[in-house]
Amino acid sequence: MVDAMTECSLEMKTRLQESADNNSMIEVKDMAGNFTTQVIGSVIFGLQFNSIKNPDSEFRKVGHDLVDPSNKRAAIMMLGHVFPKLVKMLGLSLQSKETVSFFYRVVKDTVQYREKNGVTRNDFLQLLIQLKNNVKLVDDRSKEDEHLRHQIELGDNKAEQFEMTESLMTDQCFVFFLAGFETSSTAMSFTLYELALNPDIQERLGAEIDEVLEKHKGKITYDAIHEMSYLDKVVNETLRIHPPSPNLTRMCTDSYNLPGTKYTIQKGDVIIIPSVGLHHDPKYFPNPDKFDPERFSEENKNLRPKYTYLPFGEGPRICIGMRFGLMQAKVGLVGLLSRYKFSVCEKTPIPMVYDPVALFMSAKNGVHLTISNRK
Ligand code: HEM
Repeated sequence: MVDAMTECSLEMKTRLQESADNNSMIEVKDMAGNFTTQVIGSVIFGLQFNSIKNPDSEFRKVGHDLVDPSNKRAAIMMLGHVFPKLVKMLGLSLQSKETVSFFYRVVKDTVQYREKNGVTRNDFLQLLIQLKNNVKLVDDRSKEDEHLRHQIELGDNKAEQFEMTESLMTDQCFVFFLAGFETSSTAMSFTLYELALNPDIQERLGAEIDEVLEKHKGKITYDAIHEMSYLDKVVNETLRIHPPSPNLTRMCTDSYNLPGTKYTIQKGDVIIIPSVGLHHDPKYFPNPDKFDPERFSEENKNLRPKYTYLPFGEGPRICIGMRFGLMQAKVGLVGLLSRYKFSVCEKTPIPMVYDPVALFMSAKNGVHLTISNRK
C-alpha cells in the first residue's frame, strides 16, 4: 500500500511545483483531500480516482458531499446522540440517497467486473471478495505484530459466523472511504498549519526528512517513514491539538458511580468522551495551546496517565485504520516537505477557527498557506 501512497504523493508534489515557483497561496485542506481520496481509491477499490489531477472528479465530489458541513447534518447528528431510536424510526440519514446509491453502484460494478473477467488485485475490495467466496485469508503481517495477531485469533474464535453479502461488502467499502480520506487529510492540513506557525520546527523536520531520504536513496518507503521519529512527534502533537474526531462514544455495560460524585452512569447509557477536552487539559498537557512535539518523547509520554491522549480512540473499537491513516498522512507530508516550505499568509486563520457543524473537526474556511521552494 505504501507504494500506492508514494505514487500519489509524487503526483501531488509535481502538481504543486508551479504554485511553489510563484510563491502562491494555496488551500491545503482541499489539496490534502485530493491526495487521500486518490490513495483510498487505489488501495481500497483498486480504482484510479484521478482526484489530484482533477479535483472535480466524480469521487471527489462524492467525498465533498459526504462530509459537507450543513446545519441539517449537524442537527441529525445531535438528535441521533440524544434520541437514536427516533432518528432510526424517522429514517433520517446523514447521507443523501443519491450519494449512497452512486457509491453502492460503483462497488457493485467493480465486483461484478472482477468476477466476470477473473481480475484480481492487491487491495481491500479483493479481500472482501475472497471472504464472500469463503477463501481463507492468509495473514502476512510481520513478526512484530504477533501479539496483535494473537488477540485477533482469540477474537475470531468468539466471533459470530456471518455471510459476506454484496451489501455488507459495499457497506465496508463505504465506511472505509468515509472514515479514511477526510480524517487523514484533516491531519495533514493541520500539521502544515502548525509547521507554518512554527518555522523552526518545520526546519528541524525538513532536516530529518533530508537525512533519512538520503539514506534510502531518495525513496519514501515504509522503513524510511518509521525512521523519522521527529515526524512522528510532530504528527502526534498535531493530533493532540486538533483531533479530527474530537469525541468518542460508548455504551455503558455496567452501572458505574463516578468516584467522588453523586452521579451514576446507568447500564445502557450512551456516553460521550471528549478526547479534545483531555488533550487540552493543562493537568496532562501543561500550556496546552503551545505546539510542542517534545511532549511525545518517550520520556514525556511515560509521565502522563494512560488514556489522556485518544486521537484514535482506545480498546477493542480503536480506529481500525490507525496505522494506515498515519502512514498515508506521513507519506503525503514527507513528499511535500522534502521539496516545499509552507508559511502563513494574510488568509491564514490565527488562531484556528473550527467549523461548528462539520462532521470531523476541521478549519471553518479552509487552511490557506503560502507555498515556496525549500532550496
Ligand atoms: C489520522 C487519521 C484518522 C483518525 C484521527 C481516526 C480516528 C478514529 C477514531 C477516533 C475512531 C473511533 C475509535 C473509538 O471509538 O475508540 C475511529 C474509528 C474508525 N476508523 Fe479511523 N481515524 C483515522 C483514519 C482512518 C482510516 C485511514 C480508516 C480506513 C481506511 C479508518 C477507519 C475507521 C473505522 C472503520 C472505524 C470504526 C472502527 C470500529 O468501530 O470498530 N480510520 N477512527
